[in-house]
Amino acid sequence: MKVLVVGSGTMGHGIAEVAAISGFEVKLVDISWDILNRAKERMMDSLRRLYERGAIKDTPEAIMSRVTMSVSYDVARDVDLAIEAVPENMDLKRKVFQELDRVSPQHAILATNTSSIPISDIAEVTNRKDKVIGMHFFNPPPIMKLVEVIPSKYTSEETTNKVVEIARQMNKIPVRLRVEVPGFVSNRIYLRLMQEACREVESGEATIHQVDSTARNKLKLPMGIFELSDYVGLDVALDLWKVIVGRGASDVKCNMFREKVEAKQLGVKTGKGFYEYPGGKYVKPSLPADSPVRESRLLSLAVNEAAWLIHNKIVNAQEIDTVMKYGFNFPQGLLEMADNIGLDRIVEELRDIYSKGYEAYKPNELLDEMVRNGKLGRKVGEGFYKYS
Ligand code: 3HC
Repeated sequence: MKVLVVGSGTMGHGIAEVAAISGFEVKLVDISWDILNRAKERMMDSLRRLYERGAIKDTPEAIMSRVTMSVSYDVARDVDLAIEAVPENMDLKRKVFQELDRVSPQHAILATNTSSIPISDIAEVTNRKDKVIGMHFFNPPPIMKLVEVIPSKYTSEETTNKVVEIARQMNKIPVRLRVEVPGFVSNRIYLRLMQEACREVESGEATIHQVDSTARNKLKLPMGIFELSDYVGLDVALDLWKVIVGRGASDVKCNMFREKVEAKQLGVKTGKGFYEYPGGKYVKPSLPADSPVRESRLLSLAVNEAAWLIHNKIVNAQEIDTVMKYGFNFPQGLLEMADNIGLDRIVEELRDIYSKGYEAYKPNELLDEMVRNGKLGRKVGEGFYKYS
């Protein structure tokens, strides 16, 4: 199979690497050779790390021999799948899809790695709307196992099934959304974690370090919430915040992320975000061992969002947990954690914050109903899951 990746930045070069590791012939396109050469170095560096760890069998050189690079779309003429990973700008993405539609063969599937732009809007500029789909990878793509597969209202069942199969061939775990929603599953939940983290700090309930200490030390997440946002890029984080809220989700008034972006402190890539990263290299921020931030409070808004996703039949509880375990390396699913904490405690936190004037924390009907019916989680044998 021949795969074209358009855009060789953080996500693009990682996706190309994953495709090459799986044995596909890969073509990587970007606008300049400087950018492509930098991508090649990053891929080699990542492949060497994976090889040293025994995570891949082929040598980095053998894998890179399957990758060719180009500054022209002409290489799309014989591909089976194109994955676009250019910056999150609608006009730019539409131009890329017009080019891909013009050059690539009729059977080729055109996928976008967008984290927030509607897939249907992108599909509309092509003459193959049924073959356009969302294929959302996670940073860093060679490590994170999840791929969200998002059919637009035009995508055919055949295309969706093929992409699910291709994701499996790439050694990824696909989660397929039934209906497209802004931010998909992953970023809607991630946004809610950011919003609650932000609210706690801006309202003076806790410090950045305390919030992240609870995330890392109590919940055992691989990164704190602010730390993860620095890692993803605060511009990217703010973008998805704006897009998801701009398309109907309730907002949580909080300015810290916007202020950081305005100050051009974008996280790891600029050397400073909520923490410092000398030379623009990720280093683990040191955090206090103890924190007064309760797990139930930090997760409350995310669990409420998960309930919304289930209530609206976008995905089920298990699929949400797969997203969090394989897209964010959570040690347990979000809803497994919620069941362990107790859904009554989650709802108490939501009510308390809601009573302070934050509309987004109004407990979702499904969650409210579960608590009213005594489905309080593991302690009573049933919550989002059943326990025997
Ligand atoms: N390629 C190859 N290996 C890599 C790598 C890469 N790109 N990045 C990290 N590694 C390896 C390191 O070399 C190290 O290997 P070792 O154990 O053999 O030394 C190992 O992974 C662990 O890395 P670190 O020691 O640097 O740091 P951590 O232990 O914190 O692990 C992490 C890094 C795997 C990124 C982990 O912190 C993690 O899982 N964090 C959560 C990441 C996450 O949530 N990503 C999703 C973001 S949201 C998103 O992408 C969606 C978008 O739309 C916004």
